[in-house]
Amino acid sequence: MKAPQATPPVPLLEGRGLDTYYGQSHVLRGVSLRIAAGEAIGLMGRNGMGKTTLIRTLVGLVRPRAGAVLFEGEDITGLPTFAIARRGIAYVPEGRGIFASLSVAENLAIAARPAQAGAAPGWSVARVLEIFPRLADRLGHRGDALSGGEQQMLAIARALLSNPRLIILDEATEGLAPIVRDEIWKTVALIRSTGMATLLVDKTVAAVTAVADRIVILVKGEVVFADTPDRLTADPQLLHRHLGV
Ligand SMILES: Nc1ncnc2c1ncn2[C@@H]1O[C@H](COP(=O)(O)OP(=O)(O)OP(=O)(O)O)[C@@H](O)[C@H]1O
Ligand SMILES: [Mg+2]
Repeated sequence: MKAPQATPPVPLLEGRGLDTYYGQSHVLRGVSLRIAAGEAIGLMGRNGMGKTTLIRTLVGLVRPRAGAVLFEGEDITGLPTFAIARRGIAYVPEGRGIFASLSVAENLAIAARPAQAGAAPGWSVARVLEIFPRLADRLGHRGDALSGGEQQMLAIARALLSNPRLIILDEATEGLAPIVRDEIWKTVALIRSTGMATLLVDKTVAAVTAVADRIVILVKGEVVFADTPDRLTADPQLLHRHLGV
């Protein structure tokens, strides 16, 4: 007798055959992506390949012309971004997205949401300040008075305070000093250890492959690689061809 096949669990978030355009420009071409609960996906690819567009499509900022986005198996294509966010997706966009004219304390206060019923004890302002002690020292400063690294930390802290099921980080370390990048990567590892699903875009191969369960590479809006970090780092040709390293 054959062993019964395990039914694969429904992914937390799934993109199915997504085609996204900006006007006449066809950017995503049949992109499919699955993120399981608790899984970390590293989304990679050179400039302009469609990484940010894929994220914007998943969170409802751009509507795909074909394909579907599903959250826990339910079709959420075309829902407004706030409704998608409310299901438990937090998005830290490229270039952050904090309130420049509000203080750090105010930025944190308006982001806080209680953890959903049945979820693990959530992120509180006290807990995010523990992992970002620099923010604790700057509570009265305006968002625009922070350094780039501090702004990024504030953006991540705000995302965590919404107590999401999935956090999406687009180029969270870009343009930051190496020491600050290291701090951000440590935080990403910590977020991972809490079991929060993570979708992160970054161009630093070593850092992404160290933290991700799977790597997805986009070339001109198509998925050309979706496999484990080991499979990627074992193939120098692949690294060179698709990521230019
Ligand atoms: N709002 C827009 N209107 C028109 N074209 C756009 C828009 N945003 C992006 N594009 C184009 O879509 C393509 C994909 O861009 P996207 O920002 O998704 O790439 P990316 O992989 O995130 O790049 P990067 O690594 O530089 O952030 C590029 O050719 C870009 O010029
Ligand atoms: Mg981008």
